[in-house]
Amino acid sequence: VTDILGAERESQKSHDDADFACEAFSRNQGILSETEQAALHATHVLVAGCGSVGGAIVEPLVRLGVGGLVLADPDTYDLHNINRQACFLADVGLPKPIVLAERGRAISPFVELRTFTEGVTTDNVEEMLSGVTIVFDGIDNATSPWEKYILHKCAVERRIPVVAGADLGGQPTLYVFDYRRTPRLGYGMVRESDVRSGREFQVTIAMLARKLPRDFLPVVRHMASTGAPWPQITYCADGIGVITTRAIVDLAVGRRLPRIVATDIHMLTRRWSQRIWERARWAPELVQTVRMAKKSNPGSTDAYVAEDALLDTVSRPVVHAIVRAPSRSNTQPWTIRQVTSRQLEIAVDAERRLRARDPRGIYTFASIGCAVEAANAVARLNWTPADDLGPLSSSPVVGSIEIDELCRDYLANRGLVGIRQTSRQAFDAGAIGTELAELAATVSPDSSAEIHIVDDKRRVQAVGGLTSEAVCRNLRDAMWIFDAVRWLRGSRREFDWDETGVPIPALGVEAWLNVFLRTGKRLPALVDRLRSPKTVRWIARQNERLVSASGGLILITAENGDPSSAVDAGRTLMALWLAATKLRLAVHPMSAAAEADEVKADLCDLFDCDSSRQPLCVMRLGRPVGAMKYRATTRLPLHRVLIADGDASRSLVSEAD
Ligand SMILES: Cc1cc2nc3c(=O)[nH]c(=O)nc-3n(C[C@H](O)[C@H](O)[C@H](O)COP(=O)(O)O)c2cc1C
Repeated sequence: VTDILGAERESQKSHDDADFACEAFSRNQGILSETEQAALHATHVLVAGCGSVGGAIVEPLVRLGVGGLVLADPDTYDLHNINRQACFLADVGLPKPIVLAERGRAISPFVELRTFTEGVTTDNVEEMLSGVTIVFDGIDNATSPWEKYILHKCAVERRIPVVAGADLGGQPTLYVFDYRRTPRLGYGMVRESDVRSGREFQVTIAMLARKLPRDFLPVVRHMASTGAPWPQITYCADGIGVITTRAIVDLAVGRRLPRIVATDIHMLTRRWSQRIWERARWAPELVQTVRMAKKSNPGSTDAYVAEDALLDTVSRPVVHAIVRAPSRSNTQPWTIRQVTSRQLEIAVDAERRLRARDPRGIYTFASIGCAVEAANAVARLNWTPADDLGPLSSSPVVGSIEIDELCRDYLANRGLVGIRQTSRQAFDAGAIGTELAELAATVSPDSSAEIHIVDDKRRVQAVGGLTSEAVCRNLRDAMWIFDAVRWLRGSRREFDWDETGVPIPALGVEAWLNVFLRTGKRLPALVDRLRSPKTVRWIARQNERLVSASGGLILITAENGDPSSAVDAGRTLMALWLAATKLRLAVHPMSAAAEADEVKADLCDLFDCDSSRQPLCVMRLGRPVGAMKYRATTRLPLHRVLIADGDASRSLVSEAD
């Protein structure tokens, strides 16, 4: 009986389906041939990523008459999606695949719909692709390169064509990978090692550079320098829907497509003279943009791929942010141990301490604070200081980071962490009162660190005088100078992780400088020179001049003798630094005055701060004179910082090897 009922229901459904299709898609006839329409009915499209680009093709594909859709996205709708995505206010907070599936069913009750609210994962990609004839890849390359990679890998294995969409300003762009004809992942432009090692930038550029919209480059530069989010607009998202539906008709009937299909909507509406002008500007704009974007993205070499393979898409940006964090004298006095894929333990690297200048380890703890805050910029996390956090001689573990998930705007913040830098030149001394107030508001009220602001000319100059006095005192101590010189680095290389920019651990300086200083026995001579009264006076004057040429100063203090509070002070320093970078202010932390015990009381006095507190540093802030030039400083390679742990990670290393 069940069989008979089932068969009857089936025949009823196919009858209704045929009637419905006949009527509902009748106006396609004439533009689409019968063969094309039939091919579409047999087509099942996987929409991987249902955001601006993926979400834009669902409705047009249902109206076109495709047989089935598989919708996959782990995201829910946000209010800021409303400007371009097919959602209503009532959909905010709801899962994207579910909302789109309901919309699809409301248009055509016979279209087959499957949803995956966990998005593409290594575990479900096979199931997702079953019965699928064309894949639309709307996965964000920057946030989920691994998911994108496994999707393409499985599609290549099954020889399913993939159309990847991108909305580039006013240019909807499709990258067509017809794996039925050429079963090579990304047409050979993408390698697994690139994806694993976070070189998604190189991968993206290899694809995008071939078809970039004319007027989008200034926008890209703005994003790279300010960390602003990727702008997206409704007519571009709709444009994706328009050209994808046509591309799917062609793919469904087996036609060959160009590898890139794009149209620049902004150029379409321009007069010919404006178009010529835009074209002429393009080449210099491209050079400028690639240079800037590279600076805000870590490069990589095969040297760190093995370590990098230990990390996944969530822990990788976190560890990379820590590696790029600033530290006193750029010593990076930390190691990271991966306890689990979501827990990182940070410990002091005893070899990389400033022994003479920082006997109590205040700057070591503060630098680790900067690293924690860098991680906090890209991910939602919990920081737990070690229970027995005491003087440096006890356990080296400072605390652990429990990663929850990447921040929503992690890409923008990763850009900020990448371009943040120390500006050691004179700034425009013009007022920056509004920015200082904005910065003060970013400081966490729960922190044990305090900040004190000075922005009137008289006090700024008085701090300059104190700094000069402190420099003179510090330079009297030969060990202090030795400690400073040890960590000098001569490299101008912009990319971290690179073996060629690595200092020799024993002496902390780069190889050539190390050999020069040691074989020529020049170090003591150099230290003596730095202590000559003439040189000391010159250095002190330079420091005073720099402090005086600042728009404002912020003193950061910690609770005296409390390492955990020094970590908090470092976190505050980094949070202020990132916020100032966003406001396009130049930043220079100066520790000289905080380091010299003799001037500490006067320093606290000038900043109206309780003299029982421990000053960490004075942040010089101001508008840069001329355009801000970004120069990323050398960092240790990943394998020097990241300590593998656990059997699972070890097997990953050998796999990568
Ligand atoms: C706690 C702390 C104190 C610092 N003190 C000074 C300082 O006194 N003078 C200075 O020129 N830079 C200082 N710096 C900046 C570091 O030298 C700089 O961050 C590091 O060399 C990395 O360079 P980058 O910031 O350009 O990436 C300090 C940084 C930190 C985290």
